[in-house]
Amino acid sequence: MASDLFRVIPGRGLQGRATVPGDKSISHRAVMFGAMANGVTQVRGWLAAGDTEASLASVQALGIQVERISQHELIVHGGAFTAPSAPLNLVNAGTGIRLIAGIMCGQPFPSVLDGSEQLRRRPMKRIITPLHMMGADINGVNDRAPLTIKPAQLHGIKYDMPVASAQVKSAVLLAGLFAKGATAVTQPGPARDHTERMLSAMGVDIHSEGNTIVLTPNGDLKPLNLTVPGDISSAAFPLVAGLVVSDSDITLTGINLNPTRTGIIDALTRMGADITVTETGLEAGEPVGEIRVRHSQLKGVEIGGDVVVEMIDEFPILMVAALLAEGRTVVRDAQELRVKETDRIAVMAAELSKLGAQITETPDGFIIDGPQVLTGATVDGHDDHRIAMSLSVAGLVAAGETTVLDARCAGDSFPGFAATMAGLGAEIVQQDIP
Ligand code: S3P
Repeated sequence: MASDLFRVIPGRGLQGRATVPGDKSISHRAVMFGAMANGVTQVRGWLAAGDTEASLASVQALGIQVERISQHELIVHGGAFTAPSAPLNLVNAGTGIRLIAGIMCGQPFPSVLDGSEQLRRRPMKRIITPLHMMGADINGVNDRAPLTIKPAQLHGIKYDMPVASAQVKSAVLLAGLFAKGATAVTQPGPARDHTERMLSAMGVDIHSEGNTIVLTPNGDLKPLNLTVPGDISSAAFPLVAGLVVSDSDITLTGINLNPTRTGIIDALTRMGADITVTETGLEAGEPVGEIRVRHSQLKGVEIGGDVVVEMIDEFPILMVAALLAEGRTVVRDAQELRVKETDRIAVMAAELSKLGAQITETPDGFIIDGPQVLTGATVDGHDDHRIAMSLSVAGLVAAGETTVLDARCAGDSFPGFAATMAGLGAEIVQQDIP
């Protein structure tokens, strides 16, 4: 029986050094892009998590041979895909389904892309619309998964994205690899650029002109040889724990510091966090380094505009920091949170209220007046990894014990979360439900 709850017992401060699993966004891309390359791609630091394993299984279902050297090391024998014998199952992975949709639209065979009930609720019109403009034959059920794709001749487009989304940008650019002519995507904000970096490293003619990315297909994708850096979105949980739990001083190593991902560091710094970032090198064409935090009395902050997309996955854990901060935190322009694995504004507000928190929801964000006193209770992770982990960090600063139900989903992005936190001295225990 899989572990399904976290018991959180507040206690001493967090101390020591730790690393976190490989970056989820880069792992998805490494296996998908490596599968399309002409030759053998080596991936070290692979994130062996629910979401990324679904992408791996999907490329295998397309006839790509993947050797598993160890849990975190893969060799992908890239080449032409063959028609899958069943729908591809992306389980809970929004990145997985949206990126592979762009690739499948360019294939000479039909395919169906599907996933969990949760994934079937997520909006797909945002990729269907630009893919239709490119000539793709892709349709959903009420613009949601399952997505049915048939072969079609694609042509390049100039697309002005209405949402700052790396998944939409990537779906269009990946379809652009199979299109006649160049594809240009203009983004309203600086969404993560892993697709651009990785395709460029593979020899694709891709460049940015301001907020516009232009890709001209040249038919040749060179294989990759990369080590995936640690995921800053996973690091954010121990980092915030280290800031809010007294007597803490922790350092996380090998973390991806790509500037399109470091909005959480900027936000926490503005909140008065004692946080030191040291760049130590480059991995997979991405800056990598150490982040040290020491317990700090945080203050409220206003967040809106471009930084929102640079920390879009970190708002659930930022809510916990804001509850402990002195003064008012206001988040705006973050309506995308409502269409993630869950409506992360509503779900976090509801679950944190069980610990006694008061959070005012707004259509595009939230307002929190702090500091607030939290009391341990039983809360629910809603099958959303970032909700389950954020709630367990909240439990570390609540009086008494907290139980986070439906916590298995933490493994969608951060397998070993409880063990990593325990290694730093935080008492988060993963338990089976009999
Ligand atoms: C991701 C993009 C973001 C992010 C997700 C990963 C990616 O989603 O929330 O966790 O790897 O491209 P959106 O593109 O929907 O903002």
